[in-house]
Amino acid sequence: MVAFVVAIDGPAASGKGTLARRLAERFGLAHLDTGKLYRATGFLVLEAGDDPADPVAATAAARRIDPARLANPGLLNEAVASASSIVAAIPAVREALLSFQRQFAANPPARSEATEPRGVEPRGAVLDGRDIGTAVCPDAAVKLFVTASPEARARRRLRELRERGATAIYGDVLQDMKERDARDSLRRVAPLAAAPDAVIIDTTLLDADQVFEQASEIIARALAARRQPSGEYP
Ligand code: CDP
Repeated sequence: MVAFVVAIDGPAASGKGTLARRLAERFGLAHLDTGKLYRATGFLVLEAGDDPADPVAATAAARRIDPARLANPGLLNEAVASASSIVAAIPAVREALLSFQRQFAANPPARSEATEPRGVEPRGAVLDGRDIGTAVCPDAAVKLFVTASPEARARRRLRELRERGATAIYGDVLQDMKERDARDSLRRVAPLAAAPDAVIIDTTLLDADQVFEQASEIIARALAARRQPSGEYP
């Protein structure tokens, strides 16, 4: 049976990462934060002193990343975030990172216990990013597009940065984020976009728990529909 895939896309600091992690835990699914692949690529380019806009250097970096080392805290800073969106606009970089993402979705690593009772489920995965529902996993069982106003997202990113001890100014964070969103939305290949069949969740006025509950209901319904033998209705 094909793996149960949840695709979560959205702009920077929309809350999709936290949501994806929590959903994966609740439903016993594996989780891949695909932004980390682009961040790792940007990180390697900067580390080598190369230009993130150089397709040769960026593609070589994308081929060198080690998916086992995506927890590197060095990936979280804003210089790496900017570099990641520059390398992400290069078609050969996206191509180099695609098969790992598709493999992960098709054969998700087994996960320990779900907090939600599930019965016997097929394996599944939550992938979050910019193009999961449109390009990486167009057949995902559930597609969510999580968004919020730029100001709300900049406030959240500022809080995250300060919690990690970084010094950051609201105006700079907002400006950097707007630039990155524009680059992500306007690029030629796999731009940031909601798939036509995605459920759009605007989190501007919602807290993380409310978003989690909304998304959990959507996933629970999709899992129930999958368990239902075809042709039968509850
Ligand atoms: O955490 P945040 O939302 O700020 O960004 P991220 O998800 O870590 O992604 C960093 C950058 O990687 C984005 O700005 C995109 O340029 C790129 N990215 C992408 O192009 N496609 C994806 N599926 C995921 C990330």
